[in-house]
Amino acid sequence: MKTAREHFGSRLAVILAMAGSAIGLGNIWRFPYLAGQNGGAAFIIVYIVAMLVLALPIFIAESIIGRRSGCDTFGAMRKLAPGSKWRWLGLLTVITPMILLGYYSVVGGWSVDYFFKACAFRFDGNTEGLFGSFISSTWEPLFTHSVFIVVTAAIILLGVKKGIELFTKITMPLLFVLIVFLVVYSITLPGAFKGVEYLVKPDFSKVDINVVATAMGQAFFSLSLGVGTILTYASYVSKKENLLVSAGGTAFFDLLFALLAGFAVMPAVFAAGIQPGEGAGLVFDTLPFIFGQMHSVLGGVVAILFFLAILVAALTSSISLLEVGVAFLVERGYSRTKATIGLAFLTWGIGIVCSLSFGPLAGVKILDLSIFDFLDKLCSNWLMPLGGLLFTVFVGWKMSKADVRDEFTNGGTRNVRVFEFVYFLMRYLAPVGIVVVFLTNLLM
Ligand code: TRP
Repeated sequence: MKTAREHFGSRLAVILAMAGSAIGLGNIWRFPYLAGQNGGAAFIIVYIVAMLVLALPIFIAESIIGRRSGCDTFGAMRKLAPGSKWRWLGLLTVITPMILLGYYSVVGGWSVDYFFKACAFRFDGNTEGLFGSFISSTWEPLFTHSVFIVVTAAIILLGVKKGIELFTKITMPLLFVLIVFLVVYSITLPGAFKGVEYLVKPDFSKVDINVVATAMGQAFFSLSLGVGTILTYASYVSKKENLLVSAGGTAFFDLLFALLAGFAVMPAVFAAGIQPGEGAGLVFDTLPFIFGQMHSVLGGVVAILFFLAILVAALTSSISLLEVGVAFLVERGYSRTKATIGLAFLTWGIGIVCSLSFGPLAGVKILDLSIFDFLDKLCSNWLMPLGGLLFTVFVGWKMSKADVRDEFTNGGTRNVRVFEFVYFLMRYLAPVGIVVVFLTNLLM
């Protein structure tokens, strides 16, 4: 027996919940290093465009399916397209988040480790080589990865609502304050100006179709699209709420956090003489350097708070990832405990392999990529866009236009003027854009 479905209490609650899932390692860890590898300001501009014309329409498409059906992904397909092959979309959107969580929790583990290190005041200005030797070691990252998975699973077992909602409400503003503080600190470091320049002066010669594809993949990743999380959250949104506002609000905060993280990291990178294109270790290499430069108790305390904030941002996202799989299994009749423990073990196993791919398994390559990079590419460039493509095709071509309009305009009372434009984006531009990205990833 199901009880009546809950609804978020306010517009702010909706946006906070969606932003809690969206804002995570993607913003603080992934965005700065992708910007660094793909041309700085030019990448940011492409990214913003990808966000507006591709990611946002898909966000809205997922919201429409979720609120219309009032179900999780699988149930939504069953309800809106009974007996059709669309149910496989439900399955895809359960498998992708589990793979994603596998490697996400490895990076989550790094933030656990760095939080511990910060607490022990290890960042004393002498952090050279620290990160490299840490991730390539065998046991330490495995240990912290396990801690991260256990905490994620424990919160899911306790119930997401009270614990995590309260947690997010307190920690998100804290994260914001800390990042703003770091931006100020970072851009006032000697030599930081070059980093600021790198982020505001676009060099379009760096932009090729690969950069566009990467920007799109990142927009998907950062907004938690294509895996049914937004769809599920939207099913808790009340009928009175304006879907355009909740989508726009979430995208705004997500972008804001990414940009702030970029301005916190990149100027310091240049000040520290580190290469901006260094890759996955950027944040973990650079931030300890900044903290070390403070040479004070203040530096130590900020380090603790900062890695705690990253950890929390990662946890609010990892929980919503695990919840997708758990909700699916619970619907299929498993107990919540069994589902959680089973999936925690599965993602733990995937994570172990990913973690070792920086050390003992570094020689194992799939399509020339390490296991970690391969799974990251598989999810961000393929599975998430594929999920997004299917969602937007579902709304644009499978659902009736009258239903879509009714849901998007709240029965003709809101957003009436922009409907045709958004519908066009969902029906044509977003699908074509994703197909272009697929072809790029396939052929280039
Ligand atoms: N958006 C999250 C981040 O930026 C990562 C993520 C991608 C995610 N897909 C998701 C989180 C689905 C929750 C659910 O870190």
